[in-house]
Amino acid sequence: SQELIRKLEKTIENIPDFPIPGIQFKDISPIFLDSKLYEEVIADLAAASRGKVDAVCGIESRGYLFGIAIAVALEVPFILIRKAGKLPPPVISEKYDLEYGSAVIETREGQIKAGQKVLIHDDLLATGGTTEAAARLVEKQGATVAQFSFLIALTGLKGEEKLKKFNAEVYHILEY
Ligand code: PRP
Ligand code: MG
Repeated sequence: SQELIRKLEKTIENIPDFPIPGIQFKDISPIFLDSKLYEEVIADLAAASRGKVDAVCGIESRGYLFGIAIAVALEVPFILIRKAGKLPPPVISEKYDLEYGSAVIETREGQIKAGQKVLIHDDLLATGGTTEAAARLVEKQGATVAQFSFLIALTGLKGEEKLKKFNAEVYHILEY
């Protein structure tokens, strides 16, 4: 709602030139100081996905802050997508390109089930590289990405373009 958007805009702190010059960092940590506001965020994100998904994948680490609570609200499984080397074998991996170099994300094998309709949730959509890799990881396991959700989308970075090929709804509360 407009009311929730206004509250979040007041609460999220913009830090210029962090972690490097030119980046406007959105610090979401003040949201967790206000449990009522946090509940409103979860209610909004859960309502956006209710009836549309049968599992939630959250991306390490800030994707966990809302992702687990969304899954609990929807009464569906939550699957951790982690950075490489954190989960014990057997794992399914997906490599993706960063501005400099590359990274790998993983899930425990067998936690995502073939045929599931999955919500991929993260706090922030920026270039979309992380989310795109997460979607490939989900599809590798025979599941479908039914929806993406974010607290914030940085629309200027065109991350949504990278997600078009998955034919899934993209939901976010805030955009900058
Ligand atoms: C941030 C953010 C998203 C990702 C978005 O995570 O939480 O996961 O970057 O960027 P992209 O759309 O350009 O891929 P980060 O890798 O900084 O790690 P963290 O969640 O562990 O803080
Ligand atoms: Mg992240």
